[in-house]
Amino acid sequence: MLRRLHPEQPESFAFTPANLEWAEAQLTKYPEGRQASAVIPLLWRAQEQEGWLSRPAIETVAEMLDLAYIRVLEVATFYFMFQLKPVGSVAHIQICGTTTCMICGAEDLMAVCKEKIAPKAHMVSDDGKFSWEEVECLGACANAPMAQIGKDYYEDLTADRLGEIIDELAAGKVPQPGSQTGRYSSEPAGGPVVLTAHVEGRPEHNASVALAVELQDTIKRIDGSEVPLRTPWHDRSDEKGDVTPDTHAPKLSEGATAGETGVDKREAPVEPSGKVESPVEDATTEARAAEDATVGTKPALLDAPREGGADDLKMLKGVGPKLEETCHELGIFHYDQIANWSAEEVAWVDDNLQGFKGRVTRDNWVEQARKLAAGGEPDDSSENAGGAE
Ligand code: FES
Repeated sequence: MLRRLHPEQPESFAFTPANLEWAEAQLTKYPEGRQASAVIPLLWRAQEQEGWLSRPAIETVAEMLDLAYIRVLEVATFYFMFQLKPVGSVAHIQICGTTTCMICGAEDLMAVCKEKIAPKAHMVSDDGKFSWEEVECLGACANAPMAQIGKDYYEDLTADRLGEIIDELAAGKVPQPGSQTGRYSSEPAGGPVVLTAHVEGRPEHNASVALAVELQDTIKRIDGSEVPLRTPWHDRSDEKGDVTPDTHAPKLSEGATAGETGVDKREAPVEPSGKVESPVEDATTEARAAEDATVGTKPALLDAPREGGADDLKMLKGVGPKLEETCHELGIFHYDQIANWSAEEVAWVDDNLQGFKGRVTRDNWVEQARKLAAGGEPDDSSENAGGAE
């Protein structure tokens, strides 16, 4: 498909002051001389602001990055996530038309779009609220057919359900994303036949849906307001108190400045005792204390491994070096610590494993740790582990 600039272009483009501040802060993420790396975030921000990418917007981004216009145009026309024509003010609906979705009813979904929105892709509906297009595989094939609406995936769609979703969006509501037939993730339609231990006690939504519900990004956009822009690597904007703290954002330690890649590069000082004092310890402890009050019960944790050294937590299925390090930061070093956790303590740890939330339950650590603590072999049958991280 040929992707060209729209024949009708606005005369100019300018970032809003808030977006300009955000865009300029993006440039500080990259080493000096590598600011062109910010091309996609800046184009994306321009699109978020205007709904689509105009020629003046592309030129503005090129000037900010000191790039030839053609270099930025190449990026904007290459990636389908960039819209080169005006789209609906409420939602641009992207229907996956690749093999799996096509077999499972994508054509029926596109028929709904033709009927309710516009007869052709990339045409805006008469009321200006909606537009649609067919896109290539969006990577949710197991839950076909599906559509991306705004930033969210709507899966296991039927023609009727898509029609309802469009009506709800038109009425200012945002339907819950994810499977529309009640599947938790991509288990068989009749329910899981393996990994059944994962079902009991799992959170209400899978991680993707939970994040969408938590951020409510699409709702904010439809409301006409914006999700707060944060540049925590640059100005601690997530700590100023004027925005809701982003629990997913990286944190700088007190007094530290970001390195040229945006990462706090201070070395961890080593005390004579050999105990490593992490520069992020204070921030981590504060965050941990705040979360203590809300989820589960904090189990007994250790400042350091007992004599003889830590157990190899990587023997737990699904635990790799990164997750083991996260456990150590929390004060978890030994199988017998894990083996004795109550359900409430499991909930606390699950909630405090930053970047790995829910892994204790998902991979049944307690049972695995009991076997290992008793001198048993790791459970090779634990196929539920997923990739070790
Ligand atoms: S074929 Fe539709 S998401 Fe992959």
